[in-house]
Amino acid sequence: MTTPTINVMISADDIAKKVQELGKQISEHYASSDKELILIGLLRGSVIFMADLCRVIDKPHELDFMTVSSYGSGTVSSGEIKIVQDLGSKIHGKDVLIVEDIIDSGRTLSKVMEILKTREPNSIEICTLVSKPSCREIQMDVKFLGFEVEDKFIVGYGLDYDQKYRHVPFIGEIGL
Ligand code: IMP
Ligand code: MG
Repeated sequence: MTTPTINVMISADDIAKKVQELGKQISEHYASSDKELILIGLLRGSVIFMADLCRVIDKPHELDFMTVSSYGSGTVSSGEIKIVQDLGSKIHGKDVLIVEDIIDSGRTLSKVMEILKTREPNSIEICTLVSKPSCREIQMDVKFLGFEVEDKFIVGYGLDYDQKYRHVPFIGEIGL
């Protein structure tokens, strides 16, 4: 199997610059809080973004991950969302920052927010690298946003198509 052409939409350099900016914003936002900070990544898409982002946040923090089912193996939303693997950490009283690769309809994150809020964190905010605002079905407040893109299916930097192309260092569309 040969790797298809992936047309660059957001270069590795632009991603790196944006991650630096987001790290600065996040560090400033939480600097005055005396609560513990925990970054929660949604597996598997957030892994690459999380790894880069956490290293430019200068406030000490914990990392944890959860797996929720969102999309099946294709590009169409299943509408069915459930927790496949929960957090290992307690979040009660902590400042929670959810780290996501991409927000599309918003269904995944709204469900995750609903569940995490019942555990009574001190605060809960969202950081997403990419957002597709024209696809949003459930509105939510995204405190830290990397890029807005139009409604196209994209891969790379953690984003997959059928579990592939997460390792691609930039974000792009699969060419035919
Ligand atoms: P939502 O629940 O519709 O917001 O979907 C969010 C999830 O769908 C993301 O965490 C991704 O896993 C996946 N997703 C949405 N759009 C894309 C895309 O363009 N490429 C790869 N994955 C996507
Ligand atoms: Mg995801």
